[in-house]
Amino acid sequence: MKLIDLYRDIRSELVKINSCDEEAAAEAELILLSKRFSSYTGDTLTRESLFGVKEQCEISEKGVTSARDIIKRRIEGIPLQYILNEAWFYGLNFQVYSSKTHKTFIPRPETEIIVEESLKFIKSCKASKINALDIGTGSGCIPITIIKNSNRKILWDAIDPFLTTIPYENAKNHILEDLIRFSKVELSKYHRNENKKYNLITANLPYVPNNSNIDSVVKHEPLEAIFGGEDGLDHIRETVKLIPKILQRSDSIAIFEIDPSQLTFFNALEEIYSIEIIQDINMLDRIVLLKFKN
Ligand SMILES: C[S@@+](CC[C@H](N)C(=O)[O-])C[C@H]1O[C@@H](n2cnc3c(N)ncnc32)[C@H](O)[C@@H]1O
Repeated sequence: MKLIDLYRDIRSELVKINSCDEEAAAEAELILLSKRFSSYTGDTLTRESLFGVKEQCEISEKGVTSARDIIKRRIEGIPLQYILNEAWFYGLNFQVYSSKTHKTFIPRPETEIIVEESLKFIKSCKASKINALDIGTGSGCIPITIIKNSNRKILWDAIDPFLTTIPYENAKNHILEDLIRFSKVELSKYHRNENKKYNLITANLPYVPNNSNIDSVVKHEPLEAIFGGEDGLDHIRETVKLIPKILQRSDSIAIFEIDPSQLTFFNALEEIYSIEIIQDINMLDRIVLLKFKN
């Protein structure tokens, strides 16, 4: 079968589970451009080659069967990122799946705002060496992306009580393993052994209120990465409590991702912090920047 015909087949199958044809087209591209599919095309495809020089390339029976297997699992409701063990975040590729019990949260586009705001802060930070802490690191996508996009010296600690080997793999694949120290621990326990203060803290913690309805695809992700207690604030509250002990008084920032309903919690902190809110692409209050008022 020709590559372009396979693309059309996949796209028309995936329309069944996507809300629009554009989403089905995007997923069909992700499948054919994936590392997993590269063994059937001789090379990892680019969008340009898929719709250009490789369009008429003949795909073996094995390749077609593999694509059909991916579609079958996708139609069963499994996120494509888990089927392919590949997620894209800020233009970089991350592993997210090793087995049913060994997978990370799939990085979301709104979290890229944490990266952007961190990079802005890093540019303005006067410290010769920046100490940074990522709380709830999952795949490690936040520290890895920030290091890859900055030429400053940043030393990262990255913690997660449900740490898997996946962020180590991601750091290794991006050749950053010496710059990030991962620890399988939650913040309160970690901090007992550390006197270190940070210039930058990033926290995309579980923040969905416990009784919220979540999409059936999201149910495949680790639930401990999603739910954050009755009002979703359990972990965020605990982190904010520790901020005075772990964030430097000046030349510093803490960046949180939140549910828009949690803004009132942060507004109540304005005696101590200057607070800035960034909205996501859907105009929802999504990212909170905290800086000590001096
Ligand atoms: C929404 S996911 C974010 C993962 C990653 N930072 C990202 O942006 O893709 C939340 C992460 O927080 C971790 N987590 C859950 N409880 C935690 C706790 N008490 N302390 C720190 N991290 C926690 C989860 O294991 C999960 O990896």
